[in-house]
Amino acid sequence: MPTITLTVNGSRHQVEAEGDASLLSTLRNQLGLTGTKYGCGEGQCGACTVLLDGVPMRSCRVPAASVTGQKITTIEGLSQNGHLHPVQQAFLDEEAFQCGYCTPGMIMSAVRLLNSNSAPSDEDIFDYMNGNVCRCGTYPRIMAAIRRAGGKK
Ligand code: FES
Ligand code: FES
Repeated sequence: MPTITLTVNGSRHQVEAEGDASLLSTLRNQLGLTGTKYGCGEGQCGACTVLLDGVPMRSCRVPAASVTGQKITTIEGLSQNGHLHPVQQAFLDEEAFQCGYCTPGMIMSAVRLLNSNSAPSDEDIFDYMNGNVCRCGTYPRIMAAIRRAGGKK
């Protein structure tokens, strides 16, 4: 099996990956980073969202071998020095989850939104987060959390 090098959350890892192995399965099964979730497996739900060079991507649809030169950030890589990322803290403060399955993907998308637009309107949030699905329907709290993280609360 080919060996590839992935840079995940600031660390380089050598992993064995078949040519068609997804980044999601490689993160979860080989690196033990199970915060990134498998939902639909078809690029439709956003549960598997990670950042590639700061841009959200559906890791279920990205071959691991195609991202060897990119910086991969997962939900495990957001906290710094024992402190949660402000978006993580806002999700906790607003209790913006029920089962929590969608939450890592929601947070990764929200991090990018706020990195590119520090004070998004509700419409901006709705539009940007539209591809992330929450089966529990906690959308109002997710909106509130992103507003809070953006300093609007
Ligand atoms: S699991 Fe990747 S988008 Fe649903
Ligand atoms: S909190 Fe359950 S899917 Fe979103």
